[in-house]
Formats: sequence, C-alpha cells, structure tokens
Amino acid sequence: MRKPILAANWKMYKTAAEAKEFADQLLSYLQEQSSQYLLQEQVEILVCPPFTALPAFAAATKGTAVATGGQNLYPRKEGAFTGEVSPLMLKAEGASYVIIGHSERRQILGETDELLNEKIKAALEYGLKPILCVGETLEQRRRGETAAFCRGQLAAALSGLGPEVCDTLVVAYEPIWAIGTGESASPQDAQETIALLRQWLAETYGPDEAAKVRIQYGGSVKPENVAGYLAMPDIDGALIGGAGLQAASFWQMLQAVAALKA
Ligand code: PGA
Repeated sequence: MRKPILAANWKMYKTAAEAKEFADQLLSYLQEQSSQYLLQEQVEILVCPPFTALPAFAAATKGTAVATGGQNLYPRKEGAFTGEVSPLMLKAEGASYVIIGHSERRQILGETDELLNEKIKAALEYGLKPILCVGETLEQRRRGETAAFCRGQLAAALSGLGPEVCDTLVVAYEPIWAIGTGESASPQDAQETIALLRQWLAETYGPDEAAKVRIQYGGSVKPENVAGYLAMPDIDGALIGGAGLQAASFWQMLQAVAALKA
C-alpha cells in the first residue's frame, strides 16, 4: 500500500516570517481533535519552501507530521558554485525531500537531463528523497507524444541507477500546460499517463519495485479537484503550487485526501 503524499511547492513565494506563520496555522489545524492521527495514518504532508525560508519552516515543524523539502539542489557537497545550495546543506537544515527537474527549472534555467541525473544521484547520496518531475508541453500532447516523452525523461534522469532507487523515489507527473494555468488534466488523462510511467518503472526495475514508487499528479490541483486525482489507482499524491500557498486551502486538500483514504 503506497501512502499518498501531498506536497506544497512554494516556488519563489514567502519570506521566513511568512513561512513560520503558515507552519503555525497548519499545525493548529493539525492539532484539532483527531486530525493529527487521521492525517498521520493516511497522508504524508510535505512543504517545499524557498531556500531562505526552509530553515524557519523546518524548525517550526520539527517533530510533527509535516516534512520539509528543498525545491532544488546543486549536485556537489560544497565548492565554488556561487548561488547554489548543496544536498548536505538542505539536510542539515531539516529537509528530507527535494524536488528535482521541475519544468520551470528545465525551461527557465535550462536544466538538462544529464544535470538532473546528477542531482538525483546527489540527493540519494545525502539521504534526501527525490521528487522527480516529468511532463509534456501542449504541442507534445497534441502530437500524441506524451507517454514517450515522459518515459524518456524518466529514463534519462534515472540513468545508471539500480532498483533500490524505488525505495525512496517519488515521481511527479506535471503536464506543463496545466501548471499555474487553472487548466488541469482530467483525472482519467493523468491516470493514463501515470500508469504508463509505472509500466516503464516495472519494465526497468521489476513490478514489485515499481509498485513501491509514489507518483503524484501536479498542475492546477486545488481543494475542489484533489480527491478526483487521488481516487485513481496509480495516483499517489499531488504536487501543488498556487493552492498550497495558503494554509487553509492546503489543509482542505489534506482533509479531502485523508477522507478518501480512510
Ligand atoms: P500549480 O503548480 O498547482 O500552481 O499549477 C504546480 C507545480 O508547478 O508544481
């Protein structure tokens, strides 16, 4: 049984003070009645703040059911890499996850598959669980290339890694045309692609290993539609941008998923 994981990706939003405010509010919701127990059992909760707010968020949520993740890393322990942050540093500040290969980093920052492969390896080496993002453009979807393209992204990012990667890997399927646009893939469309990603994992690592990997959907997920995705057999969570910036709407999504899985 895969435990669903709801992750808020804050992108370049929130100062450390705002992150602390969000954390306090989320924890106060969690402490209500039996919700902490319910959520701990049913859903894994993750927030990925920007680097500058990550230590404050991790400190405020230490020892609770809320985990912290980075949004990126540079694949070296330390060194002359101006402006970059290492997996060791993320870990030391309390991160347990890290997003790798978000489409904004691929498209705006020009990250290549080779670099992402190094990043996945670095995350694993330093004990961070990678959330590997894959997803097609609207043109690729229209040409019917979605599955082949996303499977290719998986193959490139996971190149050289053995089946043990399936113990910690999370994959996020995020069609680029659905990110921040209000236009989401239907749960059926997302399920179809995600099932093909799992099939690739099964062909590569074996069915038992593939069955362990949690695959999230991302792209305009909100309180009104999150349960529709999570009801699909291969969708194990969501990577949430805009709707994860307010504690109240993140909380609504957590409750919707916990109710579905109860
Ligand atoms: P969105 O972003 O929920 O605002 O569409 C998702 C993401 O980029 O991870």
